[in-house]
Amino acid sequence: MDIKNICCIGAGYVGGPTMAVIAQKCPSINVTVVDMNEQKIADWNSDNLNDLPVYEPGLADVVKEARGRNLFFNTNIDKAIDEADIIFISVNTPTKTYGKGKGMASDLKYIELCARQIARVSKNDKIVVEKSTLPVRTAETLRSILKNVGTGVDFQILSNPEFLAEGTAISDLLNPDRVLIGGQAKAITHKTEEEKKKAEEAMEALVNIYATWIPKERIITTNLWSSELSKLTANAFLAQRVSSINSLSALCEATGADVEEVAKAIGTDSRIGSKFLKSSVGFGGSCFQKDILNLVYIATSLGLQEVADYWHQVIIMNDYQKQRFADKIITTLYNTVSGKKIAFLGWAFKKDTNDTRETAAMYVADILMDDNAIIAPYDIKVIHKQMFADMEMLNSRSDVENKELLQPQTDPYEACKDAHAIAILTEWDEFKDYDWQQIFDNMVKPACIFDGRNLLDANKMRKIGFKYIGIGKG
Ligand code: UDX
Ligand code: UDX
Repeated sequence: MDIKNICCIGAGYVGGPTMAVIAQKCPSINVTVVDMNEQKIADWNSDNLNDLPVYEPGLADVVKEARGRNLFFNTNIDKAIDEADIIFISVNTPTKTYGKGKGMASDLKYIELCARQIARVSKNDKIVVEKSTLPVRTAETLRSILKNVGTGVDFQILSNPEFLAEGTAISDLLNPDRVLIGGQAKAITHKTEEEKKKAEEAMEALVNIYATWIPKERIITTNLWSSELSKLTANAFLAQRVSSINSLSALCEATGADVEEVAKAIGTDSRIGSKFLKSSVGFGGSCFQKDILNLVYIATSLGLQEVADYWHQVIIMNDYQKQRFADKIITTLYNTVSGKKIAFLGWAFKKDTNDTRETAAMYVADILMDDNAIIAPYDIKVIHKQMFADMEMLNSRSDVENKELLQPQTDPYEACKDAHAIAILTEWDEFKDYDWQQIFDNMVKPACIFDGRNLLDANKMRKIGFKYIGIGKG
């Protein structure tokens, strides 16, 4: 099958970078990324590459190379669908905030809208690829909508979950551990030979795109349901490692052990491995919590309560870690933070991204603001408007109160000036190189640092005079 045109619906953190890399690596294929958000598309088309809606190291160069050549961003969704041979669905699937499954299940309304639009617009056969993370068997829903609403054209559905991590998206896309493609070709039974052939051709078409730059042995093909479930499982396992080490950080603090030494000691065991053992203030990001809640919901729905409870504990531990961090700040500052300025270094959910979804920073800020602390956050890439939007989303107090208590800063030294404490929420590298003596001199004493990422050199900080408190340091 000769693929000439790709369309991707959803120009977000996944759709944007993924399509930019496909366009860069496959110059003979036209890649059009569409989104209903006009401002976002305008930003993707901005002459100033600093205005791209997603910040990722290396992304601007890829966009610069391909944009206008074979990479296009626009809001004409119908036209892009009509012209495409392959359509990637990369819209967001947030946790439901209403009705059945509220707070647990994935909200699939955007997926359904996309499917209906594809069905309505398509005049020739299409391959439809699920890129968004979805509950197991969503492909069945997609198939049903496409078949029942469509105009008789053939739709082949593939699941191709994205494993890129934000902050390293471009290198993850260029050099992935694996690419996973699930499809009907791997189903055990097919109604007809013709059906089987079509399913195989669709799978092969997508494999060939990735094979342009990824060794074939790293492209794994499975049946649809295995692919869908593998994505949820991968995120659940990764998050579980973070919660596991974070649970031990509490034990370390109580016993005099050092969580970093423990992580190193166990991580050298090749059966365990060293990655995702960094104790922190708690994991954030758009995926971990959402995907685990989704897994829990699916297990509960299937009557597998023990399975649901097992994975739910990963979330409970993560909430506990954020609460514990905030509590420690309050108790150390003589049991009251009321009216005290607390600087936050970092707001993004991890370094090298401007994304703040589920960031620990907003939850810790929320707890401290409940105690009337004044929070002065500084982040390298997160804009102040986003910080206010995050607090508003939590719905804990009025906008006026949020504006009084949250005072974002454009300069880190200003953020720390006259503060009683500094909390490190994101592991941005540049924080390590600040003039910490100057910061200390300008703070209220005793000057405390709560290092939620164990980023700074504890000995150096203590020598300067800080009261330094890391995570999991007994
Ligand atoms: C990620 C993951 O891809 C996905 O697996 C997970 O389920 C949610 O988070 P991401 O790219 O990070 O998705 O989401 P986001 O940055 O919010 O981008 C989604 C885009 O889709 C938005 O720009 C939104 O405007 C667009 N969209 C959404 C549409 O164009 N049409 C819709 O109907 C819905
Ligand atoms: C994750 C998965 O890694 C990726 O494969 C999937 O496609 C999307 O979800 P992402 O959320 O972008 O990616 O970032 P990740 O690096 O996984 O970090 C998630 C959170 O865990 C961050 O808040 C990070 O700071 C935290 N974390 C990670 C730790 O606290 N300790 C660690 O050792 C690793």
